[in-house]
Amino acid sequence: MRLKDKIAIVTGGARGIGRAIAELFVREGAVVIMMDILPEGKAVAEAIVSSGGKAEFHAVSVTDKPAVASLFEQVNNRYGRIDILINNAGVTRDRTLEKMSEEEWDTVVEINLKGVFICTQAVIPYMKDNRWGRIVCAASNVGLRGNFGQTNYAATKAGIIAMCKTWTLELGKYGITANAVAPGPTMTDMVKQIPQEHLNVILESVPLKMVAEPEDIAYGYLYLASEEARFVSGTCLTIDGGMSR
Ligand SMILES: NC(=O)c1ccc[n+]([C@@H]2O[C@H](COP(=O)([O-])OP(=O)(O)OC[C@H]3O[C@@H](n4cnc5c(N)ncnc54)[C@H](O)[C@@H]3O)[C@@H](O)[C@H]2O)c1
Repeated sequence: MRLKDKIAIVTGGARGIGRAIAELFVREGAVVIMMDILPEGKAVAEAIVSSGGKAEFHAVSVTDKPAVASLFEQVNNRYGRIDILINNAGVTRDRTLEKMSEEEWDTVVEINLKGVFICTQAVIPYMKDNRWGRIVCAASNVGLRGNFGQTNYAATKAGIIAMCKTWTLELGKYGITANAVAPGPTMTDMVKQIPQEHLNVILESVPLKMVAEPEDIAYGYLYLASEEARFVSGTCLTIDGGMSR
């Protein structure tokens, strides 16, 4: 098992890639604390527990600083440490630059960028105490390449890559690594919203001519969260069927 007894927090763990990460980490021996605003996460955690894994669900938004601080304190009190933070929660509000409202900009920046800042800042004291930590954040290949209609989203995903590089410099001396994963199109609810016609165009642009399943992405998170990646920090692992090259 690659994460035996590690205590891992996964934001946005109720569905999609976050759920696949939570389920894979549990199979690899971790205790997973899932936090999401979707109540469906409770049933996901219950299913994990009933099949013998260790998981908890908490209905906490990544943007709610006091609730995040209180949850992390509870987790640390219960398990004695926090080893891994997966900053996976993210949203889209797509619109071309000329039509994008300030509200659409603010929502995406608040959740995708400030949420990552809030959760990472809250976890650092526990990881420093432990002299070991893994922070892995959901970027996107859109953060490397841009994407039509995604000014807000692309800005947040590029920002996440830059934050990981910065945290590498600030936190490396405490045994804490910070990396990003940049998926390409992955079959989750986020992508299911895209009209089929547009999805066909996306598919055409992927050299491997397929979209990812959530588990394809989760394996990248597993590597970066594991002891095997102890000399990897400040990088962005692209998992996008060859789109970024
Ligand atoms: N699906 C893709 O093609 C793709 C590609 C590149 C990057 N990503 C990134 O991967 C991550 C997961 O994407 P997904 O496709 O699984 O999306 P998804 O919409 O299926 O799941 C995202 C989860 O985040 C949760 N969430 C949203 N706001 C939250 C908040 N304020 N606090 C806590 N949880 C919140 C949602 O409730 C949901 O469960 C996102 O950051 C996304 O930007 C996805």
